[in-house]
Amino acid sequence: MELLNLIEKIKNHQDFSYGEIESVINKYTHDVITDQDFLPLIDAIYHNNLSDKCLYFLTKAMKNSGEILDLSTLGSTVDKHSTGGVSDTTTIVIVPVLACLGTQMLKLSGRSLGFTGGTCDKLECFKGYKTDIPLGTAFELVKKNGGCMMTSTATIAPADKKIYALRDKTDLVDNISLIASSVMSKKLATGADIIVLDVKYGDGAFMPNKKSAVSLGKKMMMLAKYDGKKAKVVYGDMSQPLGYNIGTLLECMEAIDILKNYNKNNPLTKACIKLSAICHSLDKHMPYLLAKKRMIKVIKNGEALEKLKTMVASQGGSLELFDTPYETPQKIVYAQKDLKIKGFKTKSLGEIINNLNHKYQTNKYGIIIYNKIGEKVKKGEKLFSLYAPQEEIEEISKQILNCFEF
Ligand code: URA
Ligand code: CA
Repeated sequence: MELLNLIEKIKNHQDFSYGEIESVINKYTHDVITDQDFLPLIDAIYHNNLSDKCLYFLTKAMKNSGEILDLSTLGSTVDKHSTGGVSDTTTIVIVPVLACLGTQMLKLSGRSLGFTGGTCDKLECFKGYKTDIPLGTAFELVKKNGGCMMTSTATIAPADKKIYALRDKTDLVDNISLIASSVMSKKLATGADIIVLDVKYGDGAFMPNKKSAVSLGKKMMMLAKYDGKKAKVVYGDMSQPLGYNIGTLLECMEAIDILKNYNKNNPLTKACIKLSAICHSLDKHMPYLLAKKRMIKVIKNGEALEKLKTMVASQGGSLELFDTPYETPQKIVYAQKDLKIKGFKTKSLGEIINNLNHKYQTNKYGIIIYNKIGEKVKKGEKLFSLYAPQEEIEEISKQILNCFEF
């Protein structure tokens, strides 16, 4: 009855109380309400905007469905969250860079979802790396190394885990209220003092354009404020892959490349420096440009690379990948004539590659691209390198080529 009342209220744009939503969220979290019965509620939120107050109540109920971390023994901490994209490998760069400069992050990351990559999957490319460690160990690692990258534990915002899985299954993902409550329930439960939100927009993101990304960003800022936290939103263009490598292993290798050789022209490098500089400047109350200089310095002098190695080793990961050259791709596709890159079907690229790795239960398949939108490719120059199973090489190669717009 209370569930049906709640759904009616949402459909009629009437406010509900915290108690009403809390009770329903708790019952769903503990399997008292089934997926089938709960789905109309998600559907009602998907099709009707919630008032700010009700969106906060929903978020707070999701946050309170599990453990709330107390990070106060760690001193000041920063968190960041990307709403997800293609070739969006910022965490593995940012956490060690910040750790070198005393800005601590306990980063709880997710798995690959839909067309987007997952940080935990990338971390596990370091053979033996344990993403699933006890929180006590994670706290020790933050104290020792200045940061820690691990999986979001089952105890944090379990309501979000269930709701997210249900949304994923029923294609109710791309909605501002649902994304904002999903992201912020986790971030507010994780307890960092400062939250930096990286909101992605464009074909390779959940928000189709800048305008909708700004609406999402504003909602998340509002939720942070209602909860007494400081948040900052950064918007990122995801109309093309952020870096040059797409695919779990290739993306992990690109993160290493970024720390090995400072390349200011790689948009992924730029995004990492921007995000880490914002985190650092907010944490240490320093001007952004000074923070940015510091970020570049610890990449250029190799400190951040060493820090990543320390972090990987601390979580049981092998350092082999740091010295492993790229394998020879199964196919290299060259431009048949002079071309100019007009765009990418970024979401499709992510989907093709995620599906391939999923199908073959591996992380090694993917592509490397060599150009970004607006760049010219001369006849005979490389368009992309493809890592794919031999039996599907021609078909996949055709599909990938179709994702380039000339
Ligand atoms: N990331 C999340 O954590 N939740 C969403 O709903 C979308 C992106
Ligand atoms: Ca959809």
